Amino acid sequence: MWIKQLSLTHFRNHEDTKSSFEEHINCLVGKNGSGKTNLLDGIYYLCIGRGAFSYTDTQHLQHGKTFFSLKGTFEKEGRKNTVQCIVEKGKAKVIKLNTKPYPKISEHVGNFPCVLLAPNDTDLIRESSELRRNFFDTIISQIHKNYIQLLIKQKQILRQRNQLLKDADQQEKFLKKDVLEIYDAQLLPIFSEIHRFRSEFINEFVPIFSEIYATLADEEMKINYRSHLEGNKKEEIIKEQEEEIENENQEIDETEPKKSKRTKKETLSFESIFKGNVLKDLILQRTEKGTHRDDYKFLLRKKPLKHYGSQGQQKSFVIALKLATFSIIYNQTQIKPILLLDDIFDKLDESRIENLLKLLSKSDFGQVFVTDARPERTRKLLDSFGRPIAFFEVKDGNITNP
Ligand SMILES: Nc1ncnc2c1ncn2[C@@H]1O[C@H](COP(=O)(O)OP(=O)(O)OP(=O)(O)O)[C@@H](O)[C@H]1O
Ligand SMILES: [Mg+2]
Repeated sequence: MWIKQLSLTHFRNHEDTKSSFEEHINCLVGKNGSGKTNLLDGIYYLCIGRGAFSYTDTQHLQHGKTFFSLKGTFEKEGRKNTVQCIVEKGKAKVIKLNTKPYPKISEHVGNFPCVLLAPNDTDLIRESSELRRNFFDTIISQIHKNYIQLLIKQKQILRQRNQLLKDADQQEKFLKKDVLEIYDAQLLPIFSEIHRFRSEFINEFVPIFSEIYATLADEEMKINYRSHLEGNKKEEIIKEQEEEIENENQEIDETEPKKSKRTKKETLSFESIFKGNVLKDLILQRTEKGTHRDDYKFLLRKKPLKHYGSQGQQKSFVIALKLATFSIIYNQTQIKPILLLDDIFDKLDESRIENLLKLLSKSDFGQVFVTDARPERTRKLLDSFGRPIAFFEVKDGNITNP
């Protein structure tokens, strides 16, 4: 799948940008602040239905403008498809596929898969578990159409349940237990479905990730999915916790099952843990346990990558994450996602850049966009690709194909 034509109107610093692209490698060069990342974000927006950097929709509006519009012509399975997104202040967002608006924006997700690798992606390693959940949820949503509906339902019911807890004002006598039971009966199967999707996904994802990481550098990296729904029962978790406690005494993580000897003895099901937590939920005025608190642990030689990984190692880790994302979406949907590589060479040493280029030129990627603020360096590096490359210059929110 690839994007043939793109037009951005009033989108960040792109007043009215139009361009055609090549099916394989497209390289965007231009000075800092010229609009390269914004252009990739425009492509991402057309594919996923929202911006990549979690800005609100109105933040994408060009200063002083009241609407933005994006239009892309995609080639997918031999057919031409047009996607248009229109965001106007004070109105609901509209996304059209071949001039027909989607009844729900979420229906668009997965139709035009795309993977973006951006400089701030290492935030995935350092920041809160919400970013990691969102990252993996976006991949699973692009593979399984019904997954996003589960997430939407989970959010809705949790909002209602938390409101009920708040209304009780920390007093058990005010808690409407019959209503709580209704919410819980809806929520528990959703938690369990989300947990199943995530577990199955990660089991397939990790070997692909490890294989890709091994081609970039020779370091032991691990990804572990952690959920309250594991029910504190797995020997593997207990072993890992002991290793982590030994290595990392000071690390505090609320989503982790309790790090104590007690863990070994607990064999309670998640449902009983969840129901037994009501008084604590009442005090916290929110739902403490569930898949909305899941996390993914990133480990370098069994220690948290966020504390012990160098910048280059963290960057290599997210590159492998993103390339593995490409592979898993392609394996599962038979559609090659568009690969958007923003500033990828930064912070990598020569050998990692060489390994990355080898990987990119060997593997069967589809359409790839690469940006760099240093055109000479990019040209030199990409010459080793052995594949035709189209160069574009981005300048003050305009694009030219010199
Ligand atoms: N809402 C907006 N309206 C108008 N201009 C904006 C808006 N948001 C950001 N900009 C401008 O867009 C430019 C940043 O563009 P972008 O991040 O795409 O640059 P870049 O080419 O990727 O630069 P770098 O090489 O530094 O990564 C800045 O000049 C910024 O002021
Ligand atoms: Mg940029």
